[in-house]
Amino acid sequence: MMRKKILITGGAGFIGGNFVQYMVNKYPEYEIYNLDLMTYAGDLTKHQSIEKMGNYHFVKADITDVDTIIPLFEKEKFDYVVHFAAESHVDRSIKNPGIFVQTNVVGTHVLLEAAKETKVQKFVHISTDEVYGQLDLNPTSYFTEDTPLQPNSPYSASKASSDLLVRSYHETYDLPINITRCSNNYGPFHFPEKLIPLTITRVLNDQKVPIYGVGNHIRDWLHVYDHCKAIELVLHKGINGEVYNIGGHNERTNLEVAKTIIHKLGKSEKLIEFAPDRLGHDLRYAIDPQKIERLGWKPTYTFESGIQQTINWYLEHKYWWQKIISGDYRNYFDRQYSL
Ligand code: NAD
Ligand code: DAU
Repeated sequence: MMRKKILITGGAGFIGGNFVQYMVNKYPEYEIYNLDLMTYAGDLTKHQSIEKMGNYHFVKADITDVDTIIPLFEKEKFDYVVHFAAESHVDRSIKNPGIFVQTNVVGTHVLLEAAKETKVQKFVHISTDEVYGQLDLNPTSYFTEDTPLQPNSPYSASKASSDLLVRSYHETYDLPINITRCSNNYGPFHFPEKLIPLTITRVLNDQKVPIYGVGNHIRDWLHVYDHCKAIELVLHKGINGEVYNIGGHNERTNLEVAKTIIHKLGKSEKLIEFAPDRLGHDLRYAIDPQKIERLGWKPTYTFESGIQQTINWYLEHKYWWQKIISGDYRNYFDRQYSL
């Protein structure tokens, strides 16, 4: 029997990278293709433990490059596509929205065309809860799969646009798709521009931690391992055309998150420095995960166990994040903050 071929886009990034490792280790019978352009967010050193495994392949390519993507699909005849590749950071989208439209909208369209033309059996589009906009502080209000799309940042608007394209390829061409919308992830290999790894790495270096506004914004945190398990489930059991929200009821204010990390590392809260608020800053995200739970998913980590595992990982992998924060990232940080 032919081995199933799975194309994972963005597999050199944070979540895609964790998913590539999860799948390569768990499914030796699958051929896993990691396609990534290697932007500032891409890093292949994370795959040292799997790069020599026979079922792992890397392709350096741009998802917006139709002249590369269509021939690649025609040659490899992928069975499944799991599409992570994106520009993913809200702050960067506020400064430079154009690349978000190009990568997240145009890139997704190129992949959809290739998947349609080569009759891919499943296209899982990894989206985000940010497409729903923001919730108020009423603790019983949640994003469900039926919540209207009301994206507020150029990033979330580009993701919502790509979601609508993916939906249209199901409705119009019967492409077997699923869309997943997950809450904020954290865990190993999280790029230190995002709140949790930024806080851990800066606290470890006794540097100030910038908290936007007064720190009362709420995010619903999910360990990346639990996100990977949910995507695996959707890939194998998702009903074609359906959207699945993914989240584990781990709501925390940004100030709570920063203080938790500071306390666990035995440092002083004086490291927190309030910074000018993000433009269009969404107040609260919170997922109702009942639909993915009915499919058979339940998270492994609580926020407490997950954040401890993550802090331990950053303590044990200083070489990984130190090389990032000492490179080009320093210029980004200086432009973004005045600390
Ligand atoms: P990331 O920024 O860490 O990684 C993105 C990857 O995509 C990088 O490896 C980058 O090189 C690659 N890439 C960018 N442009 C490309 C292009 N034109 N062609 C090929 N590859 C390209 O992102 P992440 O945080 O791992 O997010 C992955 C996906 O999950 C995104 O689609 C994001 O919207 C979604 N998501 C993220 C979160 C989160 O909390 N991080 C939550 C929900 C959904
Ligand atoms: O909800 C899912 C989304 O989560 C994903 O779609 C995005 O790709 C991912 O980046 C993330 O978006 P957020 O904007 O929520 O994540 P970020 O880590 O950038 O910020 C989390 C919260 O912390 C947010 O309220 C802004 C705040 N923040 C962030 C940074 C970087 C600060 O207060 N200070 C900071 O320096």
